[in-house]
Amino acid sequence: MADTNGSFWLPPQSSTVAAASDSLFDFIYWLNVIFFVGITVATVYFVVRYRRKSDDQLATSKVAHNTVIEAAWTFIPLVLLVVCFAWGFRLFLHQSVAPGDALQIEVRAQQWSWGFAYGNGTQTLNELYVPAGRPVKMLISSKDVLHSFFVPDFRVKADAVPGRYTSVWFEAMEPGEHQIYCTEYCGTSHSGMLGTVKVLPADEFDKMYKQGMWPGQTGAGRDPVEWGAELFTSKTCNACHSVDGTRLVGPSLKGVFGKQEPITGGPAVAVDENYIRESIMDPNAKIVEGYPPAMPSFKGQLTDDQISALIAYIKSLK
Ligand code: CUA
Repeated sequence: MADTNGSFWLPPQSSTVAAASDSLFDFIYWLNVIFFVGITVATVYFVVRYRRKSDDQLATSKVAHNTVIEAAWTFIPLVLLVVCFAWGFRLFLHQSVAPGDALQIEVRAQQWSWGFAYGNGTQTLNELYVPAGRPVKMLISSKDVLHSFFVPDFRVKADAVPGRYTSVWFEAMEPGEHQIYCTEYCGTSHSGMLGTVKVLPADEFDKMYKQGMWPGQTGAGRDPVEWGAELFTSKTCNACHSVDGTRLVGPSLKGVFGKQEPITGGPAVAVDENYIRESIMDPNAKIVEGYPPAMPSFKGQLTDDQISALIAYIKSLK
């Protein structure tokens, strides 16, 4: 199967379940259109047809009830709603129960990024690598508050709940890239909690899975400052740190390199490579005075190459 175009309302269908999901959407949509038009037309007609024409006209009709009509408007909607429920429940079960041979990937949501942990021991941040044409099961959890993992092109959505695991599965049809959204309001930078599913050809995926390194994790041949600037956005550092001096959840990083920063409950610290690295891996070790201990640890989620590029970029922010 290949990706197909979506509709006016829906994005392209890029997973094996998308077409079935859209059929149900279309059914409910047209059902609503038919009832909306029918009820509106009937209402307008009755208002005009049975309006009170003079002051001495009886205000209310003497008709008490009509068993046939009442039975019809009870039974027909009941059947339609049971059809919607049964159809939706079948799809829900289908998406909830992953095939036995599905590749499992852990999704760890946190304010405000997506961590992914693979069976080969690797981790990535905001970039999810999956093979095309194979079922993948997402085992989802949250480190802090409610989030929700949403890939519109796959028609896949599942809440990330602190203290428990939820799961959902999908099979991407073709290599390509798809947007991940957080679709449960989770604080200041909820709308910036974005990621990308990178669907690789299955053989390419297998090769990288075995060697334990993903394409976006090395900066070979790249300018570190440029790459760092890209990472600063793609890893959602920008959700909490501005680069123009504006105060967000965390301190702005403009001109911060080489400065002395006052630390809550400790001596001031010089912002150098080691302090930045420590702040990424163990953010609560030395918190800049006046800021909350809000940053999660990115230990294991960024490679040494990526951290070096981020440091190079932060150095460049004059
Ligand atoms: Cu995470 Cu909204």
